[in-house]
Amino acid sequence: MKLVLIGAPAAGKGTQAARLVKHYGIAHISTGDMLREEVAKGTELGNQAKSIMAAGGLVSDELIIAIVKERIKKDDCKNGFILDGFPRTVVQAEKLEEMVTLDKVVYINAPDEVMLERLTARQTCPKCGATYNKMFLPSKKEGICDVCGEQLTQRKDDTVEAGKKRIQTFHEQSEPLVGFYEKEGILIEVDGTQPIDEITKSIIHGLDA
Ligand code: AP5
Ligand code: MG
Repeated sequence: MKLVLIGAPAAGKGTQAARLVKHYGIAHISTGDMLREEVAKGTELGNQAKSIMAAGGLVSDELIIAIVKERIKKDDCKNGFILDGFPRTVVQAEKLEEMVTLDKVVYINAPDEVMLERLTARQTCPKCGATYNKMFLPSKKEGICDVCGEQLTQRKDDTVEAGKKRIQTFHEQSEPLVGFYEKEGILIEVDGTQPIDEITKSIIHGLDA
């Protein structure tokens, strides 16, 4: 199963991907997580991406396409994968078509104000990657990861200013993908304002139909 998850910042791509990879036994490929790892390691790629990400822009198509091309060749992708945050431009989508045949594309749709509220309240675990939300999905002990006990952190781009810019970037550069995949007849749209478990059910229902 080869899937793509499309959605604006904080629409719930990472949250849903984590559940879907368990359900279907496939790999989770988050280009945002991969870039953040490079930034944390201080690699050349990370240094190139750092300021662009903090400002809410997109890294270059060439760079991200090269990363994904290598990633999907890895062993854990043999049964399939979920691409979370790629493609984000029509150029990326066209390149992806040259690499693989997708089964479905899931679009998690939610209004801007919902996404802004969610992203400024998000907390992530720097050690195991678990995601929480101060308002909607709090950890049991404030500021501490339920899974591994690490101190939770906030992403550098989860500010109101960068969040607004990221949402604007989504509308300008990524929303055209919805029409792109609709034309191909492989788009499933789900209402991203529902509770997390309801969205997972809607997606699985759409994929298994
Ligand atoms: P990326 O990391 O992909 O960021 P994003 O697209 O902005 O998406 P997020 O990770 O912020 O949100 P999400 O949809 O995963 O939401 P989540 O599940 O965490 O990319 C970061 C940057 O990297 C980009 O800005 C760009 O610079 C660069 N980049 C990455 N890919 C690229 C590409 N292909 N091309 C060029 N540049 C690229 O949920 C958010 C919060 O809401 C959490 O707190 C969660 O607990 C909560 N939540 C989730 N669902 C619900 C719900 N249903 N109800 C209530 N709360 C919920
Ligand atoms: Mg994410």
